[in-house]
Amino acid sequence: MSKYLEKLDELLRQRVDELSEQIRGGHNPQAKVPPMAMLLQAALKNEWETALLTSEWVTNEVDADLRVELCRLAGDEAKHFQLIEARLNQLGGEKNTTVLDERTPLYHFLVKQKSTFDRVVSGPYTREALAVTRNVVFLEHCKSIDDFETIALYDEIQNDEGFHHRVGRKYLEKLIQSDADFDRAVEKMYETLQVIDDIQEMIVMNKGLCRIPGC
Ligand SMILES: [Fe+2]
Ligand SMILES: [Fe+2]
Repeated sequence: MSKYLEKLDELLRQRVDELSEQIRGGHNPQAKVPPMAMLLQAALKNEWETALLTSEWVTNEVDADLRVELCRLAGDEAKHFQLIEARLNQLGGEKNTTVLDERTPLYHFLVKQKSTFDRVVSGPYTREALAVTRNVVFLEHCKSIDDFETIALYDEIQNDEGFHHRVGRKYLEKLIQSDADFDRAVEKMYETLQVIDDIQEMIVMNKGLCRIPGC
């Protein structure tokens, strides 16, 4: 592994660990875990946006290999959407198309990333690392309430999200070749995490909701 990637992984891990405490609701005594149907509604929204955003990138990515990789990622997120929707329906819930059609600040931020480098850092590498961490917290919650069906569903989803993050790592191993590249990757990673942090803060601190799964 390149020394650059090793250092970047370390910086990512530090920040993601801090954010995962926030997702657990540890910093807000008023934080409450929403009912499962509401958690799955929020999960649907994340999968939906990630599927749409990744598809958007597919249409104009200049790196042919990454383009194919993004097609696969978009397909995975669409699959997650359908699996989660089926579980939501079992629990008596339904998707809310009005909510799905509102775009989040994360979508607006990601859709502005035009270069292969910036896309790999912000999407597969950073966002997917956080998705894995959010799902770890969500799975702990599912285990604490013995929701075995949702556990089985998220074990499958987690395999894919881990793969998505590794796609990002594989590309960055090639793309970061100098100190300048490394600095640019760090900057883009922190920028992405800041956008996610702002959204989470709104959800956890202001609305008091925690343990919502990632894409
Ligand atoms: Fe993903
Ligand atoms: Fe997903």
